[in-house]
Amino acid sequence: MAKSTTPATAVDAPPVRAEDFEVAARAILPKAIYDYFAGGAEDEAAIAGNRAAFARWRFRYRVLTGASEPDLGLELFGRRLAMPVQLAAAATQKMAHPQGELGAATAAAAAGVVYCLSTLSTTSLEDVATAQGVPWFQLYVFKDRGITTELVDRAEAAGYQAIVLTVDTPILGRRERDFRNAFGMPAGFLYENLVGPLSRTGPVDVGQSALAEYFSFQLDHALTLKDLEWLAGHTRLPVLVKGVVRPDDARRSLSAGARGVIVSNHGGRQLDYSIATLDALPAVVDEVGGELPVLLDGGVRRGTDVLKALALGARSVMIGRPYLASAVFSSSYATRSSCR
Ligand SMILES: Cc1cc2nc3c(=O)[nH]c(=O)nc-3n(C[C@H](O)[C@H](O)[C@H](O)COP(=O)(O)O)c2cc1C
Repeated sequence: MAKSTTPATAVDAPPVRAEDFEVAARAILPKAIYDYFAGGAEDEAAIAGNRAAFARWRFRYRVLTGASEPDLGLELFGRRLAMPVQLAAAATQKMAHPQGELGAATAAAAAGVVYCLSTLSTTSLEDVATAQGVPWFQLYVFKDRGITTELVDRAEAAGYQAIVLTVDTPILGRRERDFRNAFGMPAGFLYENLVGPLSRTGPVDVGQSALAEYFSFQLDHALTLKDLEWLAGHTRLPVLVKGVVRPDDARRSLSAGARGVIVSNHGGRQLDYSIATLDALPAVVDEVGGELPVLLDGGVRRGTDVLKALALGARSVMIGRPYLASAVFSSSYATRSSCR
């Protein structure tokens, strides 16, 4: 029998599905960085659960409807978007690609979709705004409310079109890969929206994650509806609440001024054994879907996943790891092409 010619990694073959980019990223990145991107909390059961929930659904589709040219577009907060797939907030993207967040935001602008910038980005929010797309700003609330207010005001001034308040991160999830790797941001990378000592994670003691320490010292552990009310009253931008998995929390968020909710478990990086986001979606949609847009992220890896989320009532999905992995792949592809 002839030997299999299947390449060992997707690095040598053109990627044809999102997971191929993740295989490539694993082969290209230093282990600690790959683990930070790919990993999750504790047993990583929430990561697996997000995917398993998508795998359980099948389509009972309509025929003979005369559908010809599909229109994937949608409107969100007064902006026309080309498709119901937006780029979720992800910290420290220069570890994936030298152009970091600006590269990803430029790609999102070209594709006509939202780019949500993380508070903990390695490019300043003002620089990312030059991509001229539809930028949203993801907010972590600092204990020092002066820092928080300044971030929101800067985002407004720079042309961001929504604030995404992440509410599932009172402390950083226990990401055991990061503990094993004593993960901290490598030298040369800074949180460019923040200044001075706030701009980087501290020195790492073996056995600890510098990122976990950063969260515990700098960020507010005890957000309440009052904080949401304050934020919604402070900014003229729509506030979306990210990290909701229960209908009562969606209702409370709406009452406190949220203009959208994102059903999310942070890609399985926060509380492990969180309900799969696709399983959480229908009850949230039943409760508030008639009043505000409900988005979903976590484990979306292909078009049929998007269709399942839309069929269960999401207005749009967001993706995280797939675009980080494709950024890693494209940076290595550029290097290899220029060597030819
Ligand atoms: C490397 C990485 C960094 C992230 N950083 C943030 C962040 O700074 N703020 C935030 O709200 N969510 C963050 N997330 C969560 C994403 O916004 C999103 O919820 C998640 O990635 C969706 O799941 P998926 O990666 O399976 O698509 C991060 C996710 C990853 C993978």
